[in-house]
Amino acid sequence: MGAKTNQDHVFYRNPNKYYPTAQRGEGIYIYDADGKEYIDGSGGAAVVNIGHGVREIQEAMLKQASFISFTHGTQFTTEAAIELAEKITRIAPPGLERVYFLSGGSEAVETAVKMARQYQVDRGVPSKCKVISRWTSYHGNTLGALALSGHTKRRQYYQPLLVHTPHIVPAYCYRCPFGRKPDACNLECADALEDTILYEGPDSVSAFMAEPVVGATAGALVPKDGYFQRIREICDKHDVLLIVDEVMTGIGRTGKHFGIDHWNVIPDMIICAKGLASGYTPIYCVITQEKIRTAILEGNGAFVHGHTYSQNPLSCAIASAVLDYIRDNDLVSRSARMGAYLLEKLQTLYRHAIVGDVRGLGLFAGIEFVEDRTTKKPFDAAFKLNILIGNRAFDKGLVSYPGGGGADGVNGDHILLAPHFIITEEQIDRLVAILDESIEEISREKNLPR
Ligand SMILES: Cc1ncc(COP(=O)(O)O)c(C=O)c1O
Repeated sequence: MGAKTNQDHVFYRNPNKYYPTAQRGEGIYIYDADGKEYIDGSGGAAVVNIGHGVREIQEAMLKQASFISFTHGTQFTTEAAIELAEKITRIAPPGLERVYFLSGGSEAVETAVKMARQYQVDRGVPSKCKVISRWTSYHGNTLGALALSGHTKRRQYYQPLLVHTPHIVPAYCYRCPFGRKPDACNLECADALEDTILYEGPDSVSAFMAEPVVGATAGALVPKDGYFQRIREICDKHDVLLIVDEVMTGIGRTGKHFGIDHWNVIPDMIICAKGLASGYTPIYCVITQEKIRTAILEGNGAFVHGHTYSQNPLSCAIASAVLDYIRDNDLVSRSARMGAYLLEKLQTLYRHAIVGDVRGLGLFAGIEFVEDRTTKKPFDAAFKLNILIGNRAFDKGLVSYPGGGGADGVNGDHILLAPHFIITEEQIDRLVAILDESIEEISREKNLPR
């Protein structure tokens, strides 16, 4: 008999896997139908930041639903949308003054690409069309967003359907593409952008897109200080827009409102964020500089793009309540404080020989596993180490976000952690203890280096 699987009519992401039924969420915990408790150590996939079951959000939902839940963006605006856009611009870097709402991250990525393109055409530079992105990155699974994503394994199946776009090397200090140690680094990985712009032809390049801290593909890759400043200079020099994909890092995840705030760089657009509504509803946005809207206004007159659920008032009201909750409970600084504590505790995992690197910023942390710590050789992808450890932790009541392919697009294992901003020190201790036990057990059972 095969392993237990779900036998209902849902088309599950992995039909070979058994998914327990989540019944209730409270604070950092999820409870399944058998009453088992899980620490939501990754907020799903870096989504939930204020905790499950917050009463204020439920009240905001009901209140908006009692007025109106849906209007179409071609017909009405609503107080909920106006209010939310204002709140977002208040926390965004200076100059980012317009907010375009969407209901998915990939949708938001593609919206930013199209907005950049229309901006270039409408201001009279129609040759600018290419978007450069990076390897070891993730920007979404729709075909356009996947084309920009630099994750070989996720692309492989759909390769014939992907538009070819240029990719540069990542800012991956643990596996520096230039073989540098941090003190000898001259930000060669940032200069790679200039090389590529020149090779492609500056007149053809519309924008550069990057995650401030890489999430799903490699587990919290934090660039060296100065990287994004250099990137901004290069973009300015060649009249290229800088788009930061803050789908995971936005809204306090890294201990500041936006990941890019750590380097005081002002991008032209921010794509944001799973945390905007903390999982209470699907809502994302693209925040842009005024010049983008002005060019479109004075050019075509309208943005030739749109989605049905953009700007729906129910989602806007929910996100608005989440932003209020984050502000009222000072949760962004709490993310910074608890993030520092988490990173300190995670250092203890170096006692396992297979832990190669522990890194992170705010409550966004990654643990990278290696077969050989000296050579940094990754495990063979077929061994699925990240899944083995992630599943063991899950059995023990910790939800994490395991991933692979970071080292070279196919091999490389990591666990991504993105706990709720409300997590306490004791809960972090428990989270790290479960991870520690899981790594210990898998190392022993599979005869891994110890
Ligand atoms: C940085 C980044 N961009 C885009 C996406 C795509 O978002 P969605 O899954 O909502 O389409 C993700 C999802 O993990 C992401 O991490």
